[in-house]
Amino acid sequence: MTKYLNRRAFMTVLGGSLGSAFLAACSSSQELAADKTTEQRDATSDAATGIDYMALVNKTHELPEGWEDAVEIVSLKNSEDWDVDVEAKAYDAYLELKADLESDDVYVDLDSAYRSVEAQQKIVDEFTEKYGKEYVKLYVAVPGYSEHHTGLALDLFLIIDGKGVYYNEDMVQYPEIWEKIHAKLADHGFILRYLPGKKIETGYSYEPWHIRYLDDVDVARQIMDEGITLERYLDALDPMTADCEVDYGTSKLYTEADMDSALDAVLEEFRNWDGCELKRFAFAGDDTCGTEELAYANSLRSERPKEFTQAIVFKTDFHSPSGEKAEGTAWEPDSDYQDWEWHLARTDADGAWVLLTWGY
Ligand code: DAL
Ligand code: ZN
Repeated sequence: MTKYLNRRAFMTVLGGSLGSAFLAACSSSQELAADKTTEQRDATSDAATGIDYMALVNKTHELPEGWEDAVEIVSLKNSEDWDVDVEAKAYDAYLELKADLESDDVYVDLDSAYRSVEAQQKIVDEFTEKYGKEYVKLYVAVPGYSEHHTGLALDLFLIIDGKGVYYNEDMVQYPEIWEKIHAKLADHGFILRYLPGKKIETGYSYEPWHIRYLDDVDVARQIMDEGITLERYLDALDPMTADCEVDYGTSKLYTEADMDSALDAVLEEFRNWDGCELKRFAFAGDDTCGTEELAYANSLRSERPKEFTQAIVFKTDFHSPSGEKAEGTAWEPDSDYQDWEWHLARTDADGAWVLLTWGY
């Protein structure tokens, strides 16, 4: 049964299974729910005070104050009888998107949309246990900083041959289906939020399933056509990395997520370089990350007890700030640096990269 509630009432009926990542199958129950939703919203619309559908929530932007009192949430059971809660207009738009996709024989369902801070914490805990800390850093927001708190972020799952495909590692096996889904998002006011190769801007690795409702088809279309992030559209990028071109090339050794993880380790250092602007971050290539590099990494291992088993190298271009040469810096003021190297290594494939050294 679909309930249509404003946020205050909503708090009292939230079930314990919010944000769970395991659903399956599709049915007509959501279409039926859609009609009910419209009727019930008419009855309760004066309860809402309105929200900013363009609101930015990311690693550095918390949920806007007062959001929870203003947002209207539809609380429903999906086709697998799981509880899903979603912002009202986003839900209506999702139903249109779903019907549009079905006309092309593409079937999706809602895994999770609105999540409370507590529900987000539950996901952090579950995913840390299942996938490890490094994975969580790439794919799961810190509670309080998740776009899911808005109710405007929707995680889809696929239904293939009548069966639900809902684990992240399984969903990514169907790039051609995601392509069809992504092509229709803007027509219904949605964007793809975490684009491939854009972790430097969004803070997260590629998530084909996570879409964001903007309530503006023209803006959504511009963002999708230009292939840009919401951060870039809203001019909310960190000036230290806003103009950085990321080039992971092709690798047989490492995935894009492996490189995103290394990027995090490099940025942790680079962000201390006051006034510097990163212009290029490029994988140095598989040839540069072989036995010789690993031996070099282990020679720098000093007191770390375990041997490194993987090494990776990146090349960067950056621009140094103007003004007096700052004490302790290795660079001249107002200069361009090219192919500045970063050497990292790790002890196991799912573990954290250790930044060992950088420079020429
Ligand atoms: N998966 C997205 C980043 C979240 O946890 O909000
Ligand atoms: Zn999501």
